[in-house]
Amino acid sequence: MPETISSPSTQQQDVRQLAINFNHWYAIARSTEVTTQPISRTLWQQAIVLYRDGKGAVHALEDRCPHRQVKLSHGHVIGNHLECAYHGWQLNAKGECAVVPYLADNQKLPNCKIRTYPIREQDGFIWLFPGAVEQVNSTAPLSLPEWDHLNYIATVSVIDCEAHYSYLIENLMDMYHGHLHQDYQAWADPVLQDLQEDGDRVDAHYQAQSYYKIDKIWSISQLFFPALRRLHPEPLDVSYVYPHWTSTLGSDFKIYCLVCPISQTATRAYLIHFTSLNAFWRLHKLPVAFRRFVKDSLFGSAQKLLDGLVRQDVLMIEEEQQSYLAHPERKNHELNRALVSVQRLMRTQAHS
Ligand code: FES
Ligand SMILES: [Fe+2]
Repeated sequence: MPETISSPSTQQQDVRQLAINFNHWYAIARSTEVTTQPISRTLWQQAIVLYRDGKGAVHALEDRCPHRQVKLSHGHVIGNHLECAYHGWQLNAKGECAVVPYLADNQKLPNCKIRTYPIREQDGFIWLFPGAVEQVNSTAPLSLPEWDHLNYIATVSVIDCEAHYSYLIENLMDMYHGHLHQDYQAWADPVLQDLQEDGDRVDAHYQAQSYYKIDKIWSISQLFFPALRRLHPEPLDVSYVYPHWTSTLGSDFKIYCLVCPISQTATRAYLIHFTSLNAFWRLHKLPVAFRRFVKDSLFGSAQKLLDGLVRQDVLMIEEEQQSYLAHPERKNHELNRALVSVQRLMRTQAHS
């Protein structure tokens, strides 16, 4: 009998062995990382070369020269073509061989084609769709409206962990792990109050205590001086919007995690933290150029905090993975019901 989404075997499959659902957009690189110098990225064991052509458009091809299968990412961009480092064959953006420098008069260009991937450049990231071509318009990249909004200050931290993506998602959805970050004062005393599952998302609503309140100009300095911080209650909402994660802490902070699973035991993700300046209601009266200057100059102001949190999380997540590999039979004792919902969604997506 064919396996269906709701069959017991689907929902019982070991979550650490799950594949990904390819029919979603994945953040494969930051916009600034992709230039006319090709780079290599991996999404679920698929090696992909990314480059910008002479007109600034981004392309994604299999990172494999059809001539002798070496990596195209060692090569160069020549106009709108990608030139392989080995013998100088050139591929066009459709993945077809367009130039062989030593082609004899009586030879034809080889009829070979490598895979290309749909790409979108949006909100500071390069988004790639690894799924079925006919599904490409059935979903859209997660939108980050704060990226260009002048009232939000952004910080980006890269998460590279040797672990299955499920460990990262479960870390992000279980706010009781604030215990780990006590010395960074990220949030305190979380209590899960409400949980919703809907289609491709899980929303978990916690009540927590926050250390920061961005309501006066001087209060920005709380980000730098712990002595100025006062705990106060704030809602802490976290959502798994497959395959990514979003959260809000009160009305001052918004955080996204764009997940790019590399393999069964490796995951890259981009954590993007936005501090809102919306409380300063006169801000919109200032000249746009000045507001842009403030936004750009404060870019990365939460870097130390964010990198510190990531380091602590990665240590735990990788240890979970190693323990699993050594003893896959050991069962966890989980009390947070949000994680049951998250695992159910991961399983359903991996099998759909
Ligand atoms: S291997 Fe790429 S040109 Fe020969
Ligand atoms: Fe964390």
